Amino acid sequence: MIRFIEDPEEKKKISRKILEALPEWFEVEESREGYIRDSAILPLWAFFEGDEAQGFLCLKETGRETMELAVMGVLKECHRKGIGRRLFAAAKDYAAQKGYLFIQVKTVRYGVYPDYDRTNEFYLSLGFKELEVIDDLWDEANPCQIYVMSLKDAINVIGTRHSYRGKYLPDPVPEEDLKQIANAGINAPSGCNKQTTSIVVVNDPELLDKIKGVIDPPVAATAPAMIVVLASKIVAYRDRTFYIQDYSAAIENMLLAITALGYQSCWYEGHITDEDRICDKIAELLNVPDEYEVVCILPVGKAADDFHAPGKKPFGERVKFNSWDGEL
Ligand SMILES: Cc1cc2nc3c(=O)[nH]c(=O)nc-3n(C[C@H](O)[C@H](O)[C@H](O)COP(=O)(O)O)c2cc1C
Repeated sequence: MIRFIEDPEEKKKISRKILEALPEWFEVEESREGYIRDSAILPLWAFFEGDEAQGFLCLKETGRETMELAVMGVLKECHRKGIGRRLFAAAKDYAAQKGYLFIQVKTVRYGVYPDYDRTNEFYLSLGFKELEVIDDLWDEANPCQIYVMSLKDAINVIGTRHSYRGKYLPDPVPEEDLKQIANAGINAPSGCNKQTTSIVVVNDPELLDKIKGVIDPPVAATAPAMIVVLASKIVAYRDRTFYIQDYSAAIENMLLAITALGYQSCWYEGHITDEDRICDKIAELLNVPDEYEVVCILPVGKAADDFHAPGKKPFGERVKFNSWDGEL
């Protein structure tokens, strides 16, 4: 289980335990003590089996939009169990939610020491890309390889999108960003290209208040902007309409655009389309023509609260290769 550790003394205890057990990487006392000292003030995640920490990872801000994987370690007997990968996933989620665009990490260049070669392979397997080698950053015997990862490439945006139901900061969302989000929505695929989904962007504070006034019980009450998704049951061919698939694809595209631009949202459909038909009240406030249904609202804004990814079932339970009894 991964825990975000806040207590500085606990952080130091964990980092000391792990780093002292890894002399292959952290033999030099001065630098090891530096890592332990720094760990007290950096965001730190630890992996626990029962009460025993088996690994940890710290992030450090190195620029307004860049974090560094400052240090990580997993006990040797616990290697190859996916612990480092899970620690990094938690840290990446955190950095993305805080709006950082890149994560960098430094290690000794490939081909110098076998133990560090494994470290290089691990970073590459996480998706890091080679940025630069600086031969004399540390010392001649330890040429420094810098790796970098964009938190805003499609795969990372998909991985760091989560439903957000906390409070929003009051800052207005620039119109350009709202246009980009709506554009992502209308660029989605649609059955027979019937383009059955339309969108009303709401950023007028008075109108937003009116909409929030009909959402009972309230959700997204502090959001500074909202995307209202409209669907029209246009026939694609014979008696078939794909309007649900169409608006679902449009919504997911918009959620990803929202995440990529550093905002948060949540797909509110059940809440507004239940028997009390909040959707119809919203349609009336927006003068939506009869041929459209309001099917979903997506609040847009910067998160004011922390939040966590929901649990997903294990990969292997939902994904098989070649046949349902197939092994990965
Ligand atoms: C069709 C649909 C309807 C949803 N309706 C609501 C809703 O009314 N209220 C809500 O809080 N979340 C709603 N959600 C969000 C889901 O609860 C959320 O996607 C799910 O719990 C998984 O979490 P994640 O989005 O963070 O991965 C809806 C999602 C979908 C796809």
